Amino acid sequence: MNSTQAVIDLIAKRKPRHALPRELYSAPEVYRQDLEQIWHRDWVFAGHTFEIPKAGQYFTLQIGDYPVAVVRGKDGQVRAFHNACRHRGAKVCEEAQGKVAKMVCPYHKWTFELDGTLLFAGNMGQDFDKTQYNLKPVHCEIVQSYIYVCVAAKAPDFEAFRTAVTPFVAPHFLEDCKVAFESNLVERGNWKLVFENNRECFHCDGTHPELMNSFVENLSVAGVGGDDDPELSAHWARCELAGMPSRLVMDINGRFRMTRIPLSAGAVSYTMDGKPAVNGRLDKSGEADIGALLYFNYPSTWNHFLGDHALSFRVLPLGPNETLVTTKWLVPSTAVEGVDYDLDRLTKVWLATNDQDRKLVEGTQMGVNSPSYEPGPFSEIAENGVCQFDDWYCSTMLDRLRGPISLKSVG
Ligand code: FES
Ligand SMILES: [Fe+2]
Repeated sequence: MNSTQAVIDLIAKRKPRHALPRELYSAPEVYRQDLEQIWHRDWVFAGHTFEIPKAGQYFTLQIGDYPVAVVRGKDGQVRAFHNACRHRGAKVCEEAQGKVAKMVCPYHKWTFELDGTLLFAGNMGQDFDKTQYNLKPVHCEIVQSYIYVCVAAKAPDFEAFRTAVTPFVAPHFLEDCKVAFESNLVERGNWKLVFENNRECFHCDGTHPELMNSFVENLSVAGVGGDDDPELSAHWARCELAGMPSRLVMDINGRFRMTRIPLSAGAVSYTMDGKPAVNGRLDKSGEADIGALLYFNYPSTWNHFLGDHALSFRVLPLGPNETLVTTKWLVPSTAVEGVDYDLDRLTKVWLATNDQDRKLVEGTQMGVNSPSYEPGPFSEIAENGVCQFDDWYCSTMLDRLRGPISLKSVG
């Protein structure tokens, strides 16, 4: 089977404003194309700079076929490398996170400097030119503590995203943060089902009692609008007056979006009672109720920034029917657990919400896999965000699968 044409045909089969055909959520050939056209080509959120503050600290992640290590150098710079030894390919950094003086391959002890330079390789003889075997670099960009990496030989533009996201996130002073808690959830569902589920809260009322104490979906921002909503306009005006950019910004290709939404009346944080979970603030606006700044950047992340803490979410595909969702609860670096915040209180709402979402995604994957499945229509009221995600996926895949128009066929 020509998988390029097969995926083009499947996308062409999708009815407008409908869920995707089954194979796009489940077929190994489609998953392979998702990796090659999206995950192996685009910027992917890896982690935060404050997770590796000291020289030699690293964390690792797997982006499709590519193991990657993100390392803080002696010069303070954060770099990313293909985590594959230049000798016989072993993973050099073995752990999810760690701290090393040098990167030493566990197999035959080839030793790399923190900037990837090969320092030592035993038994290789006199003619061995070690300058030819440094670790291969991975593109790495940092914006407001977010480390993004791209495993492609040539990375796409990063600057449009940097320009758009910086004014929104900068007033939250993430460089003064720490991770209070991290959860890693493997969901038995395709990564697109995970993101579709994130892009609507149609399901929230019936599913997320904990989250509904504070979160209220603003349908005006699910698509690209918002100006026609008086509550939202007032929230934006009040927050912007306090120096917190809020008005919705959407990427021209639909890949990223930022906006600040009000929480439900009286709530200022994602806690059971809506009151702050942390003593102290990330922002310095002086505005008590800034609601939640939301930003997503396909294919790998969505985020919530509150006054007292922030949440980053990272999505990584593990297989056609398996996705890793990593959630990090970010609090001021000076906040002391048990004094300034209680971990259970801080994490209760989103631990519950994530697990409820996992069940929905897994149930949907089962149903979609059924030969009886037929893609159903999206609600025009409550599912514009899901539709926007699927539209972005389909148009991105079509553009890339079809490639540039050949001059021959034009002539
Ligand atoms: S594979 Fe790394 S030293 Fe041999
Ligand atoms: Fe949900």
